[in-house]
Amino acid sequence: MSTPGPQMARQQVSEGFADAAAGYDTTGTEFFATMGTNLVTHGAIPPGAWVLDVGCGKGAVTIPAARAAGPDGHVTGIDLAPGMLAHAEDRARRAGVANVSFQAGDAEDPGMHPGWTPGSFDVILAGNVIQFLPRPARAVAHWRTLLTPHGKLAISWNLAEDPRWLPIIATFDTALPGNVTGFAATLRRPPFTSADDLEAMLTGASFHAPSTVLHQVTMTYCGPGHWWAAAQSQGPWAVAWRHIPAPELDPARAQAFAQLDQLRAADGALTRALTFACTARSVAASIWARSINPRARSAASSCSLRRIASPPSRVRTPRGGLRPGSSSKARTARQVSSVTSGSHVPEPTMSPW
Ligand SMILES: C[S@@+](CC[C@H](N)C(=O)[O-])C[C@H]1O[C@@H](n2cnc3c(N)ncnc32)[C@H](O)[C@@H]1O
Repeated sequence: MSTPGPQMARQQVSEGFADAAAGYDTTGTEFFATMGTNLVTHGAIPPGAWVLDVGCGKGAVTIPAARAAGPDGHVTGIDLAPGMLAHAEDRARRAGVANVSFQAGDAEDPGMHPGWTPGSFDVILAGNVIQFLPRPARAVAHWRTLLTPHGKLAISWNLAEDPRWLPIIATFDTALPGNVTGFAATLRRPPFTSADDLEAMLTGASFHAPSTVLHQVTMTYCGPGHWWAAAQSQGPWAVAWRHIPAPELDPARAQAFAQLDQLRAADGALTRALTFACTARSVAASIWARSINPRARSAASSCSLRRIASPPSRVRTPRGGLRPGSSSKARTARQVSSVTSGSHVPEPTMSPW
């Protein structure tokens, strides 16, 4: 058994998301728009900010960020998968957002871009991408160098799976060839198992003033097949399960569907509650809001920021939010919001899986 090196892992992720691009965020359980808006809200992008959105995908973060930055600001979206970038450009055009540009680039090493120098950006956003990077600590160190002295980093990431769904994910992961990292192992490796550990990684890269908000997103699928269609257009397929050979994929799917049948509600629907986290850090904690990059750029008129999720309320940190073994008294409670707006009951005309 061998694991792919960073170069190979990058190529596999790029190919995987290119494969998933057409269906990505279009299967009736979209939550990336909600998460994108949450991240932009948490990043508190001031008007006029110069923003980099790493791993921009189809623009779920880029577009609300561009609206927040306004006509004097600008957002650059980079992604490894050209198919994602093409969709992002199209979405931005249809949304009437002009203060954006997109280009191919590696989120793990955006400093390789020849046009960017230290201090090129006021804000760096990374929406649900950091867990797909082979060397996340190295990535945040690069991001740090691209920020202005009082710049800010805001990332969203998947903190916890619905416990009822762990056996379903394991069913597919165990069908993978030995040289491919499973989806659970991709997401649930340190430091992504606790907000404390994630924040510690950012501290190690000289970020300060931690702030993590948890968002509980509940998705509803009309049945196992609906979930499977969604999974094939998202991370599980892109980074892992597309590598399952056909002879193993069919029995794994049959087994998973049988497992999922046990989870169905009386109306046949399946629900899945995921915990996402938005973590923001400033390079320097103070006066960030007054240090807006003076570079101005004429652009389309800004639009108001549309809040999809309700504002977070202060509640007890859910399981998984603490480092194993740490006491809830050892740290302050994190803010949590429960949102279902990023997911919705599927159209009644959807397939009767
Ligand atoms: C789950 S999607 C999130 C996309 C978008 N940020 C959103 O919130 O909808 C992850 C994206 O990260 C991109 N990605 C993964 N690894 C990358 C890397 N090393 N450099 C740039 N993009 C990467 C993928 O191509 C994919 O578009």
